Amino acid sequence: MERVEPMTGVRAVARVNLAAIERNCAQLARASPLLCAVVKANAYGHGAVECSRAALAGGASWLAVAAAAEARELRDAGIVSRILVMGAMTRGELAIALAADADVVAWTDEFLDWCGVLGGGRVHVKLDSGMGRLGTRDPALADALAERAAASAGLELAGAMTHLATAEEADRSFMDAQLEFFSTWVAPLRDRHPGLIAHAENSAALLGAGRARFDMARCGGAVYGLDPFGVDPAAWGLEPALELRSWVAAVKQCEVGDSAGYGRRFIAEQPTDLAVVPIGYGDGVRRLLSNNADVLICGRRRALVGTVSMDNVTVDLGLQSGVAVGEPVILLGLDGAERIGAEELAARQGTINYEITCAVTPRVPREYHRDGEPR
Ligand SMILES: Cc1ncc(COP(=O)(O)O)c(C=O)c1O
Repeated sequence: MERVEPMTGVRAVARVNLAAIERNCAQLARASPLLCAVVKANAYGHGAVECSRAALAGGASWLAVAAAAEARELRDAGIVSRILVMGAMTRGELAIALAADADVVAWTDEFLDWCGVLGGGRVHVKLDSGMGRLGTRDPALADALAERAAASAGLELAGAMTHLATAEEADRSFMDAQLEFFSTWVAPLRDRHPGLIAHAENSAALLGAGRARFDMARCGGAVYGLDPFGVDPAAWGLEPALELRSWVAAVKQCEVGDSAGYGRRFIAEQPTDLAVVPIGYGDGVRRLLSNNADVLICGRRRALVGTVSMDNVTVDLGLQSGVAVGEPVILLGLDGAERIGAEELAARQGTINYEITCAVTPRVPREYHRDGEPR
């Protein structure tokens, strides 16, 4: 059989279309002119530094991360935009965030004490309007913290925020109650501090409403072309930016009764050919996809069969498929008219699309391009 040289020169690669990220941000910025691109967790697996640059080029003006070290990484790469560290931090991490000139999020007096001792910085006060995670549930305490930050030398009251628990759900009642609770708190605060930036919305809340209700929206999933509602990013004019690709490393003839992979969870019931594809759960292709996924080869869907192992999967080609060793295999992305979305993979695994892209491990090199052209 003819041998095709693998296109990328590596066993598995995550190709990221930066032009798609730019266009997604331009689209989101039409709904929220002040746009904060959430680039935590290595930009949902896509690569924090490159995606941050693309998001800023596309129309975002802020970036948000969860951890101090993530802010440090962006600064070290030369990124100068405002960066908000949204997560809870130890005192040591706060020192790193402030040294990186990041904005930080406060909901206790002790945290403001630390900010003061560490030389001060820009603070966003967080109200827990129903997420039940970070933030104070007490609007009076949130007010007191805001006034203290505004009045303290070295501290700046930069923002007021909350986070929504159910923005992607069809029933809007809980989200509406959260928005109401937040609005009631933030409106007078904003009147007293006109420069303060109020922000609450994530991708689902912004897309669902079509326009921002507050000063800034914090969007993550939509930036990468992931549908926060888990169905179809194209319905929102969003383009998935990530392609996960490997190659056919071997084609094996199988007779009836031959098996493939750990536990013999595939046994041929008729003669067939199997492709061995060198990508596995060590790369982020979860074991839950064993006997439970399609891949794209030469523009056609083929069934992943047998157990996903750490470094390999097997794919049923059928007889006389014409598929040669070296042919590219798309596990996530587009091939001709066929597409496998993170939404499809998530549905098969009982999870959400965000977890699919975050799961791609550091072993898989990220390769950046703009609509297929080198950057
Ligand atoms: C506090 C906060 N704001 C905004 C976002 C962005 O959410 P999404 O990716 O759904 O737009 C996240 C993501 O989890 C978050 O934790």
